[in-house]
Amino acid sequence: MTRKPLLEVFPDPEKLIQAAAERVIEIAAQGIRENGRVAIALSGGSTPRPLYTLLASEKYSKRIDWPRVHVFWGDERCVPPDSPHSNYRMARETLLDTVPIPVSNVHRIHGEEDPEKAAAAYEKELQTFFGVNARDGPPRLGFDLILLGMGDNGHTVSLFPGSPAVNEKERWVMAQYVEVVSMWRVTLTPVVINAAKNVLFIISGAEKAERLHSVIEGLFQPEVLPAQIISPARGRLLWLLDKAAASRLERL
Ligand code: 6PG
Repeated sequence: MTRKPLLEVFPDPEKLIQAAAERVIEIAAQGIRENGRVAIALSGGSTPRPLYTLLASEKYSKRIDWPRVHVFWGDERCVPPDSPHSNYRMARETLLDTVPIPVSNVHRIHGEEDPEKAAAAYEKELQTFFGVNARDGPPRLGFDLILLGMGDNGHTVSLFPGSPAVNEKERWVMAQYVEVVSMWRVTLTPVVINAAKNVLFIISGAEKAERLHSVIEGLFQPEVLPAQIISPARGRLLWLLDKAAASRLERL
């Protein structure tokens, strides 16, 4: 880590998710105020499920101007969109089917296609959306918000320990076969993630505590602990944790 990360710790998973929802609402409102639209990359896995459900609830849903929200994904498992493993499916069922977001604002990764082709198509879609070419470098006005989780091995999006994508400097999106999960994945690279205006890790549970301690307070070795590579150049990085996940941190 190049600078001291900002951490917020909540007493339980419910409070953590409520706080995350407030952040999403705040950042969405700010992006819409400033640019007329907001681009958010959703995370997969199980942690964000209650967040999406909360955002879809009547009380929270009406606090976001959904027709101005563009939704993307940080990574996708290479499975069809109706697979129980699809990150797109999880977000669709918990959030997107309920809120008034136009279909054209939903930019999914086509996990059912050849992984390399799906990665190239997604990169192109991002470049069209942000109006930049990959050769020009990362988008200057990138994502307003990228939501991230962390696995108990220190991976984030589909940047796994040993993934070449961890040290990628040019490509925005990569496809790779991930041995530990025996699956192809398509993932944003740090090029795009570190160009975002806001990056929000949401981490819950005691099983992540030890690894989180290593990621935040241990030696910088992103090939082993990929979450360490996340360090937005001009944006804000915030870690929202519950008490169990934060239990091994020394600085608290
Ligand atoms: C995925 C992810 C991944 C996830 C972490 C945490 O597709 O699996 O996007 O990076 O965020 O593995 O997953 P959990 O929330 O299920 O622990």
